[in-house]
Amino acid sequence: EKANIGVTGLAVMGRNLARNLARHGHTVALHNRSETRTRELVDRFGSEGDFVPTYSAREFVDALERPRKLVIMVKAGEPTDAVIEEFAPLLEPGDVIVDAGNAHFADTRRREAALRERGLHFVGTGVSGGEEGALHGPSIMPGGSAESYASLGPLLEDIAAKVDGTPCCAHIGPDGAGHFVKMVHNGIEYSDMELIAESFDLLRGALGYEPAQIAEVFRTWNTGRLDSYLIEITADVLAHTDPATGKPFVDVVQDQAEQKGTGRWTVQIGLDLGVPITGIAEATFARSLSGHAGLRAAARGLAGPARTPLSGSEAERFADDVEQALYASKVVAYAQGFNQIQAGSAEYGWNIDLGSVASLWRGGCIIRAKFLDDIRAAYEAEPELPTLLTSGDFRKAVEDAQDAWRSVVSTAVRLGIPTPGFSTALAYYDELRAERLPAALIQGQRDYFGAHTYRRVDREGSFHTEWAAEQRAEHPA
Ligand code: 6PG
Repeated sequence: EKANIGVTGLAVMGRNLARNLARHGHTVALHNRSETRTRELVDRFGSEGDFVPTYSAREFVDALERPRKLVIMVKAGEPTDAVIEEFAPLLEPGDVIVDAGNAHFADTRRREAALRERGLHFVGTGVSGGEEGALHGPSIMPGGSAESYASLGPLLEDIAAKVDGTPCCAHIGPDGAGHFVKMVHNGIEYSDMELIAESFDLLRGALGYEPAQIAEVFRTWNTGRLDSYLIEITADVLAHTDPATGKPFVDVVQDQAEQKGTGRWTVQIGLDLGVPITGIAEATFARSLSGHAGLRAAARGLAGPARTPLSGSEAERFADDVEQALYASKVVAYAQGFNQIQAGSAEYGWNIDLGSVASLWRGGCIIRAKFLDDIRAAYEAEPELPTLLTSGDFRKAVEDAQDAWRSVVSTAVRLGIPTPGFSTALAYYDELRAERLPAALIQGQRDYFGAHTYRRVDREGSFHTEWAAEQRAEHPA
């Protein structure tokens, strides 16, 4: 009996995807660079389904039914290229290579084009949900040809998370579309995490709450419109006590946030495409700032305001205000992320359905949230929506939240509690709704020093002012 699909690269993500496929009744060929991992998987989990262990590239390829579908789950970058080169020569036209790692979409575009020349399909797919997700149902974002999705899609939909019976998996678009969408998912993930972290810092700094109390606040929020995986796990982290010291866990962890780079890619591509993803950028920079230990040590003594905790009605309202500020800032972060997908889709001709992206992020992935169903509905109602901020329900919710949002940001400024995420989101909201922006003045400055020209509000064309002559006329010596 031939295997329906194969997985090569059996570290924990690959192993869990293979097990998930087998648990859904698919026969799965296994391969790993070192044989031990393959044997171990079969020894420990062989009873979960039909596995075909193989111990060479040739054996692996021969074990697969045609068109062959082989999933590569190795480190992004050169290891992925090396594995592709190992298998591609053994494959036949119509076979499908799937890269389920966190590849950069530009690499995926390159690989897809090269393999297409050789008659092979290459599917770069985003997979979100960590180890648990891979085993129990991730959110899956496959790119590549429609033809490859016809044979591969049903297997992926089988193992994906389900929400209301709908799989959290759909064909995103050609070549790099899947990895692009996964990249933006991670950017939004950074932004979401930053906003939640700022909420924690505000509740602690302005109200003097202990982490365990803040965990309770998050648990309450999690029963409402902020219901999401990230809020849920944040409550668990905050409620956790360090066994060694008896202190809140969050107080014994070094306050330097790391990253593997997908957030950075999102920001880089945002700049390239000219999409203002300020929330994601600020979240990414906040991580990098936190890591500058020397800079922070040098600046630690700089003067700040007195941090008098809030009292009276302001204190009473504050947690609710933070909830509203968090909600509104989160809408901004998602609005920006979806605009980036829209821009990528236009740039590369991917024709991505934003409603479908929101739908498959409802379950399985790290940013899964009730909220995403509202985004799905917004894009289904209006696929060309210029920004989520103007769609019916979001517009109303953000407008209703704006007073609280402004009040939280001003409290933060007054007490000297840094809230880059909240502040930049609010600035974006105000920039978008502004009748006039000071960009007009910037155009004047550019024209003054560099004759860069400007356009006028009342006439077509591009204009330049002879600044020196105007100055002489206006200020005769
Ligand atoms: C997911 C996650 C995952 C990501 C890391 C976080 O969707 O399951 O986004 O793919 O790589 O968990 O990455 P950082 O190390 O950059 O925070």
